[in-house]
Amino acid sequence: MNVAAIENDFQQKIDKDLFIEPKDAMPDKYREHLIRQISQHAHSEVIGMQPEGNWINRAPSLRAKQILLAKIQDEAGHGLYLYSAAETLNISREELIAQLHSGKAKYSNIFNYPALTWADIGAIGWLVDGAAIVNQVSLQRTSYGPYARAMFRICKEESFHQRQGYEIMAHMMNGTAEQKEMAQDAMNRWWWPSLMMFGPHDSDSPNSGNAFKWKIKRKGNDELRQKFIDKTVQQAEVIGLTVPDPDLKWNDEKQCYDYGEIDWDEFNKVISGNGPCNKQRINHHIKYHNEGAWVREAALAYSQKIQPNAI
Ligand code: 3HC
Repeated sequence: MNVAAIENDFQQKIDKDLFIEPKDAMPDKYREHLIRQISQHAHSEVIGMQPEGNWINRAPSLRAKQILLAKIQDEAGHGLYLYSAAETLNISREELIAQLHSGKAKYSNIFNYPALTWADIGAIGWLVDGAAIVNQVSLQRTSYGPYARAMFRICKEESFHQRQGYEIMAHMMNGTAEQKEMAQDAMNRWWWPSLMMFGPHDSDSPNSGNAFKWKIKRKGNDELRQKFIDKTVQQAEVIGLTVPDPDLKWNDEKQCYDYGEIDWDEFNKVISGNGPCNKQRINHHIKYHNEGAWVREAALAYSQKIQPNAI
């Protein structure tokens, strides 16, 4: 089939809201767009384990430690689903990891900030996973089958992540003056980077045009960000946290919150590798990826021993 016929057949499937599957003919640009987004999503899940991992040995109770361990284990699984979805687009895991290590592939801005106190673990679960849920629920309707199915599985676990984070913040806001101060400090540091997770304004997004044409994105960055703000501000008020935005104000006419301008200079600085923890995150990943090579080799050798003809 010639390229024009492939693109025409492909777009008809998209327009009929049919899933595109790995074996379907697809334009190279669609495949490349998906590899970019799904791999960055996978990298985010795995790198996101670092700030939380730092607090496993410092969790304030055995229960808190068990919950944090379960959450971090979930994130590793999310990374696995998403790397597997990306590999169906004919790119190897090795290539994906090499792109992360070389800086060619991004991961979410949010994981380039340090988790300074236990309240940060609450803020990450409540705000970061809360933002991820808003984005990922929408991605359950993405046009690429393996990505959409990965989202269904991931969204089921994200609500536990968000609830446990909110529980930590509620507990601290019901505690001593020091605990309240710690929770508010975490809110102040994580609120704006969480809004940045949704990406630039749609008008500044170089990828959204194709993302909408190919139904990779169903909702724009700004619409999802607004949905997150409207939901989360009310949750903050219930437990007595102050949202660190003097311009935040309910707009009765629009039935949503107006909010202050995001610091896009900070966003662009962080996503281009110059955030507080970018180098630490990548160096950590490279170190433990290399130290873990023997595990991958042993698993491969064993699988080839028990299934010599497996491809
Ligand atoms: N962090 C880093 N880079 C970002 C970003 C962010 N929060 N938001 C946007 N960017 C980058 C984009 O990658 C793009 O750069 P590129 O062309 O070099 O890749 C550029 O900024 C312009 O942004 P666009 O809006 O044009 O890019 P997209 O159309 O890809 O939209 C997105 C950005 C909304 C983040 C989209 O990629 C997406 O929905 N990704 C899947 C969700 C995801 O990756 N979530 C990350 C968090 S996962 C998580 O939180 C785990 C949880 O369990 C803790």
